[in-house]
Amino acid sequence: MANFFPRWTNYTPLKLAICAGIAGVGLVAAFTYYATPKAQRVGYMPSQPIPYNHELHVQQLGLDCRYCHSFVESSGHANVPSANTCWNCHQHVKTDSPKLEPLRKAIDKNYENYDGKPIEWVRVHSAPDYAYFNHSAHVNRGVSCESCHGDVHEMEEVYHAESLSMGFCLDCHRNPEKHVRPLEEVYNLDYDAEEYLEENKEVADVVNAFIAENDELKRKRLSSQEKLGHYLVDHWNVQPKESCSTCHR
Ligand code: HEC
Ligand code: HEC
Ligand code: HEC
Ligand code: HEC
Ligand code: HEC
Repeated sequence: MANFFPRWTNYTPLKLAICAGIAGVGLVAAFTYYATPKAQRVGYMPSQPIPYNHELHVQQLGLDCRYCHSFVESSGHANVPSANTCWNCHQHVKTDSPKLEPLRKAIDKNYENYDGKPIEWVRVHSAPDYAYFNHSAHVNRGVSCESCHGDVHEMEEVYHAESLSMGFCLDCHRNPEKHVRPLEEVYNLDYDAEEYLEENKEVADVVNAFIAENDELKRKRLSSQEKLGHYLVDHWNVQPKESCSTCHR
């Protein structure tokens, strides 16, 4: 994996920031410096052992994210699927495709090059060791994969779509209403709040009544997403934290 710095450098900036905090100086400067988005990470698209295509499997075949990323709603860590998951279909479909050679090597005992070793997918997104992240805490509170990973369902090859910098995390923790959606839409990457409210009139009525009763919100020009988002954030009592210890434990 591409890791350009020795492991200990992971901790250096954090230690520096903590020292600055104790000294009571420099924190603001360190902050503005460090909080700039890691623009160079956006677009990172390593080549994979098998050219697995999300667009084909999700949009055309209609597979749900959880069919393969099965831990995402119950665990802090998401997972990539094991060869078994692919083999469910590919022991029948495209069995002699050269693109699937690494799959057969991992799982097909009748294959001449079989070695039983897992497929070595190259990790695209990864948070530094000093930052704590939890998938289930997000997807079960109406935050979609799309908010952090972009339009994966349209990607023929996965790339890093968002910076996932600290500033990026905090933008949403401060204004979750811009992202929070109904739970049944979390895995629907084509979700659109306006269409959702048009199709769900009862929800739209409840949301409009909620906004009309709120003196501050009713004066603002809000998008459909913001209206629905404000309602859900209030209704579910969503309160993402901003204190350092939330993500640096
Ligand atoms: C049929 C299985 C399958 C389905 C369905 C699937 N994925 Fe994946 N996904 C994979 C595999 C295999 C990889 C690793 C290879 C790659 O990156 O292309 C992956 C990689 C990813 C990654 C990058 C992981 C990393 O290394 O950082 C993200 C993000 C992701 N998938 C999101 C989604 C989302 C969102 C959906 C639903 C819209 C979805 N996937 C549906 C199999 C699947
Ligand atoms: C639900 C069944 C299903 C699952 C699960 C599935 N696939 Fe597929 N896959 C298909 C179908 C159907 C096609 C399209 C075949 C065609 O083009 O006619 C396909 C096509 C492919 C192709 C293109 C093959 C070629 O020669 O064009 C690759 C590569 C591939 N899948 C990899 C994977 C991998 C890797 C996994 C596991 C992470 C996986 N698939 C899981 C059904 C599945
Ligand atoms: C709030 C932001 C956020 C949301 C929402 C989110 N992810 Fe992630 N995802 C991340 C971060 C950050 C990482 C890197 C985590 C790490 O290094 O521990 C990651 C890593 C992953 C990985 C790589 C895991 C691995 O071990 O290789 C997969 C796969 C993935 N996400 C899939 C998904 C799917 C599918 C969804 C929606 C169901 C989703 N994510 C929703 C931020 C998010
Ligand atoms: C699109 C919105 C969004 C983004 C982006 C986002 N978060 Fe969150 N985060 C939330 C929401 C909503 C909650 C749940 C708050 C609640 O339950 O009241 C949450 C909760 C958390 C929690 C608390 C989980 C727990 O176990 O208690 C942690 C830690 C966290 N986020 C870390 C991160 C990190 C790190 C990133 C950036 C990689 C990130 N978040 C990006 C919206 C977001
Ligand atoms: C919502 C989660 C979250 C909160 C809250 C948070 N951080 Fe971070 N922080 C992160 C993530 C994620 C990274 C790694 C960013 C990256 O990889 O680009 C990070 C990185 C850092 C870094 C390393 C420099 C950098 O940006 O890469 C420092 C220093 C830091 N945080 C200090 C703080 C301090 C001080 C606080 C409290 C005022 C704080 N953080 C609150 C998520 C958070």
